[in-house]
Amino acid sequence: MTILANAREQLEYWTNTRRQLHQHPEIGFEEVETTALIKRELEKIGVEICPLAIDTGVMAIIRGTKPGQGKTIALRADIDALPIQEQTGLPYASVRQGVMHACGHDGHTTVLLGAAKQIFETRDQFSGIVKLLFQPAEERLHGARSMIAAGVLESPAPELILGIHGGTETPIGKIGVWSGPFMASADQFTVRITGQGGHAAYPHRNKDPLLAAAHAVVALQTIAAREIDAIDKFVLSVCEFHAGTAFNITPADAVITGSVRCHDSKTRESVPDRIDRLVGGITSALNCTHKLEYVFGIPGVVNDPAVVQTLTTAAIETIGGENVIQLERPLMGSEDFAFFLEMVPGAIFRLGVGNAPGQVLHNPLFNFPDEALPVGIATMTAFALEHCR
Ligand code: NI
Repeated sequence: MTILANAREQLEYWTNTRRQLHQHPEIGFEEVETTALIKRELEKIGVEICPLAIDTGVMAIIRGTKPGQGKTIALRADIDALPIQEQTGLPYASVRQGVMHACGHDGHTTVLLGAAKQIFETRDQFSGIVKLLFQPAEERLHGARSMIAAGVLESPAPELILGIHGGTETPIGKIGVWSGPFMASADQFTVRITGQGGHAAYPHRNKDPLLAAAHAVVALQTIAAREIDAIDKFVLSVCEFHAGTAFNITPADAVITGSVRCHDSKTRESVPDRIDRLVGGITSALNCTHKLEYVFGIPGVVNDPAVVQTLTTAAIETIGGENVIQLERPLMGSEDFAFFLEMVPGAIFRLGVGNAPGQVLHNPLFNFPDEALPVGIATMTAFALEHCR
């Protein structure tokens, strides 16, 4: 039986698993039941579960039994849910108030379990090692780092890593691939502007930080419009503006925060100085002072071209060339999978989840389509067999 036919034959089982996960979502680093379910399923299959010095998340290992020296690779799925109140009305909707699998990590987890079963059952066909990484807390952006700190990339060290994420731009039954810089870095800034508060009737006696902050919000858009090469992919969004306590008091300070997304690492490194110079010029012109706090969050996801090439070849053989789409454009969103890619070459691919109404990631109506499971399972399995034989 082909890999895809085998995955399709088990669709009912994995649909049931996916719905159990969907019904019991857990926020990042609290995935206790999810971790227990993953371990139960892996034990049923017979896969070796490795000790891991973090409370949630699972690392497991499958050793090929074919004589020879195969590669060691890692497959990664994220397992956490989001703080969103589900509105799907599905019979298996979340039983937890205000927590929901609105990003499809229930689907990713199930795909990796399904792949684990197929890879384990065909372990006589390869001689390498497949590490399975069920990662906690992707949405909280620290899960990958905590797994790396717990040693998942050591003894044996994987030579490459493959990740999966649902993509609404890709139809169900297909996967989307992209070679090179694929997802943006995600950094954040906070600017506190300080003036001198006072009576609204006598602004000439005050130093107005609110007015300075308002000018700063507008001026910050000139970074994208006038400072960064238009061909470069760059977004700066101001997302919070806090100032004032009453309608007749000029406040003493104002705070703005925002998000910066880049595809180019040199551009990324240049942003704090640009913000500091612009906001500094404006605030000093308006008799105020400022303090910038800049946090480099997640690096960009750069898909290794050689890994994407093998993935594409394996996927075409397994799910058919018509179901492997070269994506039209990269993404400005971010993924903490980037931390793995800083250590090991690899790639993340998009598993088509379609774009029906409500099928928007992080939306209260989102539901991972079970029909997509076999394609994800087959793709991950084929990739592992291709690399480890
Ligand atoms: Ni996600």
